[in-house]
Amino acid sequence: MRVAPLLLTATALLGTNVAALTKRETINAFTNFLDNFLAPNNEKVAASINSTLFAEDVTGTVDVSTNFDGRELSVEYLFGLFVNVHDDERPNIIGSPIAYEVTSLMAQNNYVFASIKFDFFYSKLNLHYPVQIDAWMLFNEQKEVQQYDVSFRRWAWAVDNLAPKILPQMAQYANITNTTDPAQILTRYSTPIICGAHEIYCKGDNQQYKSYSDCVSFISKTPLGTFYRMGEDNILCRSLHVPMLPLRPSVHCPHIGPTGGGMCVARNYTEVVLDNHFPKGFIASKCVKTLRGPRGNKTA
Ligand SMILES: *[C@@H]1O[C@H](CO)[C@@H](O)[C@H](O)[C@H]1NC(C)=O
Ligand SMILES: *[C@@H]1O[C@H](CO)[C@@H](O)[C@H](O)[C@H]1NC(C)=O
Ligand SMILES: *[C@@H]1O[C@H](CO)[C@@H](O)[C@H](O)[C@H]1NC(C)=O
Ligand SMILES: *[C@@H]1O[C@H](CO)[C@@H](O)[C@H](O)[C@H]1NC(C)=O
Repeated sequence: MRVAPLLLTATALLGTNVAALTKRETINAFTNFLDNFLAPNNEKVAASINSTLFAEDVTGTVDVSTNFDGRELSVEYLFGLFVNVHDDERPNIIGSPIAYEVTSLMAQNNYVFASIKFDFFYSKLNLHYPVQIDAWMLFNEQKEVQQYDVSFRRWAWAVDNLAPKILPQMAQYANITNTTDPAQILTRYSTPIICGAHEIYCKGDNQQYKSYSDCVSFISKTPLGTFYRMGEDNILCRSLHVPMLPLRPSVHCPHIGPTGGGMCVARNYTEVVLDNHFPKGFIASKCVKTLRGPRGNKTA
């Protein structure tokens, strides 16, 4: 007699399209996701593009970039970006995830909050580097990820450490001998990669720049950006999207073009933080629907 009302409440608060999984089922779905994220398993997921690790109408956010909604974008960015970083002859700020340890985990029904310490391997540097990722995830009843909100913890610090190791390799790759200025090296390294990929993959309706030199001239007037703000109107954001061009040129060519295609665009910090990308949030069923404190009277 006491159990029935509690179950009803939990189901009601979970919403209409998400049936409850047990805590064990949710944790298994989550660790299955992590196992697939590791190299070389991630290659198979990336190649499928439509992996059922994600719900077809998944919504997601990665703090150092932006929102990736839908199965295809989620697979391309969460998996595609981390594939082949071993084999590519070009130095890359992104390493290959080869191992993980979950150091924090809470699960309730279909919800997981976890912190994961990954071992990112940088083959060209022969370097194992720890990267901690905090993730909120909501799974649907098919155990597919329905929502994800992922943050790279201390990524700004990580890339501050990694950049001095990778920049000399970038300079060497691009034959840059007359400067050691990081901004110049990154710009001169990235420009032919972006504009060269545009020549190869963005033809016909997908063309963004009139010519190679138009592309170079646009990039030369674009801010470099930083490795932890790769969802804004800058050069490093456009570099991030280059590996996606061969997958679906019609979708990804605009991201490296002058408009940024909704991915590499000017953003307002306040609007990004207050953006209501997850209308239902990640409020697990036993909590009230929204938790808000009073405004403005803290110092009264
Ligand atoms: C992924 O699946 C959708 C829906 O079935 C389909 O329209 C789309 O073409 C598929 N994408 C790829 C890259 O196969
Ligand atoms: C760097 O120089 C070498 C030797 O001249 C050349 O083969 C290579 O294409 C150059 N690389 C770039 C990225 O310009
Ligand atoms: C270095 O050389 C490149 C190409 O030859 C040139 O475009 C650039 O202005 C030079 N940079 C400096 C700091 O001299
Ligand atoms: C950012 O957006 C907020 C809210 O819309 C607005 O008040 C603020 O002026 C904007 N800031 C800039 C720098 O555009």
